[in-house]
Amino acid sequence: MDPNKVTAGQIRAMKGGGKKIAALTAYDFAMARLLDEAGIPLLLVGDSLGMVVLGYPDTTAVTMADMEHHLGAAARAKPRALLGADLPFRSYETPEQAVINALRLVEAGAEFVKAEGGLAILPQVRAIVTAGIPFCGHLGMLPQRVREEGGYHVKGRTDPERQALLADADALVNAGAFAVVLELVAPPLAAELTRRIPIPTIGIGSGADCDGQILVTHDLVGTFPWFTPRFVKPALNAAEQMRTVVQQWKTSVES
Ligand code: KIV
Repeated sequence: MDPNKVTAGQIRAMKGGGKKIAALTAYDFAMARLLDEAGIPLLLVGDSLGMVVLGYPDTTAVTMADMEHHLGAAARAKPRALLGADLPFRSYETPEQAVINALRLVEAGAEFVKAEGGLAILPQVRAIVTAGIPFCGHLGMLPQRVREEGGYHVKGRTDPERQALLADADALVNAGAFAVVLELVAPPLAAELTRRIPIPTIGIGSGADCDGQILVTHDLVGTFPWFTPRFVKPALNAAEQMRTVVQQWKTSVES
């Protein structure tokens, strides 16, 4: 085993260590290798691949087979980064199903799994952790429930939502999660959660006070220009650059 390999324990230990955690999504060999070479310590084969790679309107159509296919490609990059994957929609309805599918992801190369929810999926989280698989939580806006919720809305602005999120986060900590993604959590509550729990919070659209930040890489580099979340400022307009060089190449071939 590579002595420099990042482990879930090391990511957990980064909380309060002075350096925030920079995490990105990777869905294939080249992207995993490039991001790893850039020094990103945590890579996620997110089910956001449903939108930015497979062209679905949301993540709910993503299957275990899709996740295994993309995870296998990313894992072949043998990143130094900790590499994890999402359990897709309806793949963790019971503790037994959650463990079977988490083990399938491990078999395909995942070093941790992530699933959406807190108290509602606690038996599943406990079963995954008991099986020895590092688990990352995901609270706030839950993209797998976007159809029920009718859109991507900020969570934790009302007291009932705040109480529910505090309880969910505490439950995930007690169940043994090593980190938790906070998606579209109202920034003051994300900051409160970050102070409250002993594991790293990794925010996406949840303000600057989390222990780390995660983005869909396509949003960061501008390779999915047809939709950019409000909270992302693309650092590159790769789509426009590609269009330009492709048109130049086409002209050179045609003339
Ligand atoms: O699916 C995904 O890519 C995610 C992250 C952006 C947090 O869940």
